[in-house]
Amino acid sequence: MSDAHHPPLRSYGRLKTRSIKPRQAALMETLLPALRPPTEPFDPRSLKPDAAEVWLEIGFGGGEHMAAQAQRRPELLILGAEPFQNGVASALRHIDEAALTNVRVLDGDARELMALMPPASLDRIFVLFPDPWPKSRHNKRRIVQAETVAEFARLLRPGGRLRFASDVAHYVDWALLRMLGNPAFRWSAERADDWRVPPADHITTRYEEKRLGDCAPVFLDFIRSSPSAQRD
Ligand SMILES: C[S@@+](CC[C@H](N)C(=O)[O-])C[C@H]1O[C@@H](n2cnc3c(N)ncnc32)[C@H](O)[C@@H]1O
Repeated sequence: MSDAHHPPLRSYGRLKTRSIKPRQAALMETLLPALRPPTEPFDPRSLKPDAAEVWLEIGFGGGEHMAAQAQRRPELLILGAEPFQNGVASALRHIDEAALTNVRVLDGDARELMALMPPASLDRIFVLFPDPWPKSRHNKRRIVQAETVAEFARLLRPGGRLRFASDVAHYVDWALLRMLGNPAFRWSAERADDWRVPPADHITTRYEEKRLGDCAPVFLDFIRSSPSAQRD
């Protein structure tokens, strides 16, 4: 997505905000190395050949949504990327406590992970309550940009889905404009409740519950259209 001369702008805040509890620190040493995805180009299906679907969560925070989805759906493979160390440590605790075997974790930038995977290798992508970067001079740091949307389109199979959620009104508008600016995506909403009521399969996190934004949470579900549908 980016070339070596122009790495993408940093889209996340601090990498660590407080010391990590000893048990979680131990999991960073023991469990995390086994969960990291390859660092060379790879097909995610090779990580779990019997996976019914492969999902990616970008910026999983404390990992509550990722781990709960993985527990609910053991037939899936869920990849998650998160550079915030305290978040990764907390996610490892969830993964360990639930003895999940269908999760892989990159403690780093999701854009680096996406760049390693082949076209149409994902069934779902989640971008839930991403860092809002509310000041206009910082908007360019938002994870949703035309370039990342193009990367989402490359990675999702036709019929695959992407969920974006935010409680920052400007970011909701921003994401909608950029997602629909790419002809690969169609917004699945048919009525207001489709975006203002949390979807039945959504899992609320502690971050979401803080309601730090300026509007009620909005959920935007997009469908990756097939190449022929794009020509219509
Ligand atoms: C506001 S938090 C929300 C966390 C979680 N999705 C939730 O709803 O509880 C957004 C997270 O996205 C992460 N993030 C930002 N840029 C990212 C990137 N390029 N790749 C992966 N994660 C990223 C941040 O570190 C932060 O933990």
